[in-house]
Amino acid sequence: MGCKNLKHHLMLILLIQLFLWVTFVNGQFIPGPRSGHTATLIGDKIYFIGGYNFSIPKESDIFYYNGIAWVELNNQVSGQGADMPPKLGHTANVGGRNQDLIFIIGGDVEFSKVYQLDTKTNNVTLPTILGVIPNRDSLVFMSSVSYEGKIYLFGGGKIETDIITLYNNHYIFNTINLNWEDGSLVGAPPPRYKHTATLVNEIIYYIGGIQINNSIISYPSMSDIYRYSTISNTWSSVARLAPGNTPEPRLGHSAVLVEGKICIFGGSFNNSSPTEPIAMLNTSTLAWSIPHFKNPRSNMQNLPKLVYHTATLVDKRMK
Ligand SMILES: *[C@@H]1O[C@H](CO)[C@@H](O)[C@H](O)[C@H]1NC(C)=O
Ligand SMILES: *[C@@H]1O[C@H](CO)[C@@H](O)[C@H](O)[C@H]1NC(C)=O
Ligand SMILES: *[C@@H]1O[C@H](CO)[C@@H](O)[C@H](O)[C@H]1NC(C)=O
Ligand SMILES: *[C@@H]1O[C@H](CO)[C@@H](O)[C@H](O)[C@H]1NC(C)=O
Ligand SMILES: *[C@@H]1O[C@H](CO)[C@@H](O)[C@H](O)[C@H]1NC(C)=O
Repeated sequence: MGCKNLKHHLMLILLIQLFLWVTFVNGQFIPGPRSGHTATLIGDKIYFIGGYNFSIPKESDIFYYNGIAWVELNNQVSGQGADMPPKLGHTANVGGRNQDLIFIIGGDVEFSKVYQLDTKTNNVTLPTILGVIPNRDSLVFMSSVSYEGKIYLFGGGKIETDIITLYNNHYIFNTINLNWEDGSLVGAPPPRYKHTATLVNEIIYYIGGIQINNSIISYPSMSDIYRYSTISNTWSSVARLAPGNTPEPRLGHSAVLVEGKICIFGGSFNNSSPTEPIAMLNTSTLAWSIPHFKNPRSNMQNLPKLVYHTATLVDKRMK
């Protein structure tokens, strides 16, 4: 990913998250379990898929932002390929031999159905999956990471009339062979969802979310960081973080790697915005720090066109 793209991506996420933060401050935004959209970067386009805008959609919205304009794909995709039902709390990751496909997995529909968006043709299809398909019917708010043609999925939950069941799932979907592989659970954290997974040099860092451990639901501490090696397929937990400014726990945040630091944005803690909406984890020292911004609102005013869409995108980032 080029530096320009990264900055662009970061800027968008910042805008999205700042908007989220502002709406939290004004008390207008109520995060709910049915608000999860996804944003996936391919080249210079960010594809937004599915989600919930406070009314139940008939089908998943698909559109992209190319740095200049927003392009809706729904009209182009309907009537051919597969009709993708409303997707909420799903995952969307880049894959395929040429890294030009987006695989949409999970959400509150059948887990066994893996939707594939071909970004060359804008066609959504249901490719035939080989091998053993995980035995789950719906899984929301898993974390996902795409690396070397494989999508690593961890955690997730099932929500049925206010009852949340969290699972210790760890699945690996091979986007080249179109089959499922089992991920290891040895040394994995207790079941979690609404957490983030960030790839740093072949290691996935799992941060935040909500966990259930011996029937007790809690926010894992932000110093309770688990790592998964995509090379050795083993888990390790960070026994002790370097002294730093450990931020408040949170769920539904987002995380991106920026120059050796994992930056987390937004999220919710105890039904309100966390005290530090942005925090960074230095992955060499494993120390947290909290950056300071002069005036985030003035930045938003420089980009008025984004704001309307940002209002929609707020849900998309609330994974
Ligand atoms: C949600 O989406 C539907 C269909 O696209 C639209 O009619 C409705 O106005 C949207 N609601 C909000 C609150 O944006
Ligand atoms: C989309 O995929 C379907 C199913 O594979 C196929 O029949 C259709 O021709 C494709 N459309 C385009 C525009 O590629
Ligand atoms: C889970 O609970 C057990 C016993 O209640 C405790 O020993 C263990 O440390 C907990 N694990 C985590 C990751 O919180
Ligand atoms: C991480 O911390 C070390 C020690 O303070 C520092 O040398 C390094 O530049 C930091 N990394 C980043 C990406 O800021
Ligand atoms: C969460 O909020 C409730 C009600 O406002 C409060 O009683 C409780 O102490 C809060 N918990 C934490 C961990 O801040």
